[in-house]
Amino acid sequence: MSQQLDAQHARRVVAQHAKTSALFGVDFVPVKGSLEPRAGANSSGAAKALKSLRARYEKEEPHKPYFTDYTNIVWDDGDPCARLMFVGEAPGADEDASGKPFVGRAGQLLNKMISAMGLSREGVYIANVIKVRPPGNATPTAEEIAASKPFLMEQIKIVRPDVIVALGLPASQCLLEKKDAMGKMRNQFHDLEIEPGLVIPVMPTYHPAYLLRSYTPENRKKVWEDLQMVLTKLGQ
Ligand code: URA
Repeated sequence: MSQQLDAQHARRVVAQHAKTSALFGVDFVPVKGSLEPRAGANSSGAAKALKSLRARYEKEEPHKPYFTDYTNIVWDDGDPCARLMFVGEAPGADEDASGKPFVGRAGQLLNKMISAMGLSREGVYIANVIKVRPPGNATPTAEEIAASKPFLMEQIKIVRPDVIVALGLPASQCLLEKKDAMGKMRNQFHDLEIEPGLVIPVMPTYHPAYLLRSYTPENRKKVWEDLQMVLTKLGQ
């Protein structure tokens, strides 16, 4: 039985290795297939807290002065007690239509990145800084970000991930409260103190939409290096 499981694991690792190499142009074999649950995780409690936070968001509508032409609030996706959280910028047209973050082309690339890490989308938590689609997919302004950020911070406090990956410049600058370029911020962890004594490491990296626009081996390698550091931090 355990030989069978070993063989299954080996097949998965080889298949994933091939996928990863094709995707990123680099060699990498993950050691484990999934993240262990966070110690002391209370999944139903976290799901309930996220639901009531969403209800408060819907009541307060912090986006209202800025965005009115949208279909759905795009709140989150994934495991409410995930050890790894991805934070994006704002929903696009596909996300607006479905109410789920990262389901369009950039989302498909994010899914590939997650599976190349040896993880599943269901096992991570995904949210955006901005919860409704900005008209014309415009980059959110500092004011718009400031209005929505408290809700993102509350989401982080509820999920309490061990590591956050900030996807793209607006999400990275928002979380780190820095104005630096991505080239300066990425490839290193930054401390995010979410409450006194609770610091979460944040890894800024390029947004999958940027990667799609600039799908060079160099950029893919950079993102993959950042994600490998994240896996190491998670003990994978
Ligand atoms: N880009 C983002 O930043 N978030 C999404 O949900 C989709 C695309």
